[in-house]
Order: sequence, then C-alpha cells, then structure tokens
Amino acid sequence: MSSEMEFSTTSKPIPASGWRGLQGLFLYKNFWFYPAFLKGALHARDHFQAQPTDIFLCSSMKTGTTWLKALSFTIATRGHRPSDDGSDMTTVSLRTAVPHDCIPFLEFHEYSTAVTGSEIPLFASHLPYTCLPKSVIHSDCKIVYICRDPKDTFVSMWFFLRKLNLSSHGPYWEHILGYWEASIRRPEKILFLKYEDLVEDTQLWVKKLAEFFGCPFSAGGEREGVVKECSFESLRDLEVNKSGKHEKRGRVIENSAYFRKGVVGDWRNYLSDEMGKKIDVIMEEKLMGPGFTF
Ligand code: A3P
Repeated sequence: MSSEMEFSTTSKPIPASGWRGLQGLFLYKNFWFYPAFLKGALHARDHFQAQPTDIFLCSSMKTGTTWLKALSFTIATRGHRPSDDGSDMTTVSLRTAVPHDCIPFLEFHEYSTAVTGSEIPLFASHLPYTCLPKSVIHSDCKIVYICRDPKDTFVSMWFFLRKLNLSSHGPYWEHILGYWEASIRRPEKILFLKYEDLVEDTQLWVKKLAEFFGCPFSAGGEREGVVKECSFESLRDLEVNKSGKHEKRGRVIENSAYFRKGVVGDWRNYLSDEMGKKIDVIMEEKLMGPGFTF
C-alpha cells in the first residue's frame, strides 16, 4: 500500500488488497472497509435522513454493542412490554429476538427502526464518526458510543471472526477518536461509554443512559430490573440466544456468537504480557495526544 493511500483523506473510496486475501479493501475517509460494509455505508450516506429525535448507538465491533443495544432497547420500551393477554405493544422482544434484531444497524438493513412501542427511535451503527450520514450530525441527533480495551476487543474479535469469517473494518483507534473528540465538542449530544465502566457500575451507567435518552427512571426497582434483564447470563440463557440465528449482511449467524464470556481482562488468557504491551504502546501513541486513556 502506498503512503498516499494510507493517509488519504479523500471521500472517494480507494481499493487495495485485503489482508485476509478473500476480498479487496477500500480506504474511505481514513478507514479501511470491506466491500459489503462500505456499500452499506455509502448507501446510508446517500439515502438516510435522520430526524432530530433519533438516537444512535455507535461502536466498533466486539466492544459491547449487543449489551448496549439490549440495555437501550429495554430502557426505551419499558412500560410497553408484551403482555400476557397477547395484546403486545412491541413487535419485538429480547425474549424472542437477539438484540441486533431489536435495533438494526443503519448500514446493514433497510433504514427504519424496529423499536415500536417506544417514543424513542433507536438506531445502531458500526460506522466511524466521520462516515456517519451528514444528517445524523446536522440534525443534532443524540449518539451513545461504546468502546473497550483493545486487547479484550482483539481477543473477542478473534473468536468471533474465527467462527464467522466475517468482514471487519479499522483502524480501531481512529474509530474511538472520532467519537471521543465529538463527545468533547458536544457532550450534551454524545454520551461516551467504556465497556469496562459499564461492567464496573452498570447501575450508574444505565441511570445515565435513561437520562440521556430523556426517559429517566422513576419507579424504584425499575433500573435494577433493566440491569438484571440485560445481564450477560440473562441474555445468554434465553432460548433465542442459545439456539436462534439471525441474518447479517446476507450471512446467517448463530445468536450465541454474541455471548462468549463477557468479562474484562480475558485477553490475559490468550495474549502474553509482551503482546499486550505492544497493543498498549500503539494505542497510547495514537490516543494519548488527544487525551484519551483506557
Ligand atoms: P467477549 O467475546 O469478550 O465475551 P459486540 O456486542 O460489540 O459484538 O461485543 C461482544 C462482546 O460483548 C463479547 O465479549 C460478549 O460476550 C460481550 N457481551 C455480550 N453481551 C453482554 C452482556 N450482557 N454483558 C456483558 N458483556 C456482554
């Protein structure tokens, strides 16, 4: 790859060969994309019209997206749950659908929110901040971004890709930086989360999420209920996530692939200290300047 291609800021995709040798890669706005992902990104760029009330859940892969979707979906639809008498106000439920089918990705699906029975239109995206459709930024929509220790993200990704042979994108540090810098400029519109913080104090961050969505908890016990319902064990043990499948970019994926271990620091079981240190050094080099730390 030429340095010109690596550092190009062009908004016209530039092709290059992929490191997995299966598909080509495209450089677009400083990010490497596999074709299907880029196609979805460009389609969203050209056709998606955001509304000011929309809320976007953004993340790079394997950073806690599924959990964030489950929590957000549960917060947004509480009070509108399917009832036992069959008069459901929601068309989807965590009990019957993997969180990815509750809140679809902007770039992978037809662009309408699947969250019904809620006042809050929730969307999700793996797109970098600079590649979001312009209307998402200009309509002043709210964004929640989640990131995760790159070492755990790397190990999580390795297991996931090994199973699925699915496309990826990067660089990860640029993904984080785009949202991190935007969250400093517009803190009232962009809530920046770390997976590790969410694990450490889920109650606190779920409270913040509900406030950010504009639907704070009032009833005692409601917040605890959301946290419990969306815990790793609760979601993993649902039949839909044990034996169900869903479709993503034309591939069928077992829902269980999204619920591997859900712990912080699992990288130590797979990477040596030296390998971990190498990743830390790269991340520090890329992120410390702008003031971001894990
Ligand atoms: P591990 O592979 O380390 O277990 P994503 O949803 O962005 O694909 O991220 C997947 C990671 O989030 C996986 O990490 C998965 O186990 C973890 N995860 C999924 N649901 C979770 C939950 N409810 N609580 C905590 N972690 C969860």
